[in-house]
Amino acid sequence: MKESFNEQTTVGELVAQYPQTRAALEKIGIDYCCGGKHDLKTAAAEKGVPLDKVLAALKDSLQTQPVGDTRDWTVATLTELADHIEERHHTFMREQLPRLQDLLAKVLKAHGPKHGTMLNPLQGTYNSLRQEIEQHLMKEEQVLFPYIRQIDEAASRGKPAPEMHCGSVQNPIRQMEHEHDNAGNALSRMRQLTDNYTLPGDACNTFRALYDGLQALEDDLHQHIHLENNILFPKAIKLECASK
Ligand SMILES: [Fe+2]
Ligand SMILES: [Fe+2]
Repeated sequence: MKESFNEQTTVGELVAQYPQTRAALEKIGIDYCCGGKHDLKTAAAEKGVPLDKVLAALKDSLQTQPVGDTRDWTVATLTELADHIEERHHTFMREQLPRLQDLLAKVLKAHGPKHGTMLNPLQGTYNSLRQEIEQHLMKEEQVLFPYIRQIDEAASRGKPAPEMHCGSVQNPIRQMEHEHDNAGNALSRMRQLTDNYTLPGDACNTFRALYDGLQALEDDLHQHIHLENNILFPKAIKLECASK
């Protein structure tokens, strides 16, 4: 495959175009969702990894088949993408957030005496993450996504974008991106606290289920934020500007 990316390609553009590069980026530790606006040269420098090594790993990853969500969302309509994000990622969050909170409470109860120094801050970080995400999903579902669907609908009829009560779509998007950064920071903090989800020697099955669940939550949230920050939001801003 002749790849069409280079050091100036942003991480977000890369993953939007080649979803199979996600695993390689995760392995190197390059953030492709909240850090999606950085170009590959900057992202490699930030991680302290030589650029040629990063580019080589990414080229290798193109030989693999994308796993999970393989649809090319860059060519979907805004409405299709907003629907997909709600149906798949918002639903997943609503199912997993309370389940993992219960699991974490159980693990803390059983292992608090020995692992409380790690589990207490993990619970604190997790609980605020849950609260923030639940409010965030509501704001997207009640304010931002309905407006994005209206922009899409108006554009498809060749009509001007409707007026939004908070000015341009860029205002709520800026706020959502800020909240994504907060969520990304909480995920990194949890990874740090758990030493990259390394189970202690005395871990029980509930402990294991908790770490598996938290890693699945992290993976899903990365994909979710990537679809919003790197595809949905920039397309919505562009379409709104074009149809004013
Ligand atoms: Fe979302
Ligand atoms: Fe979001």
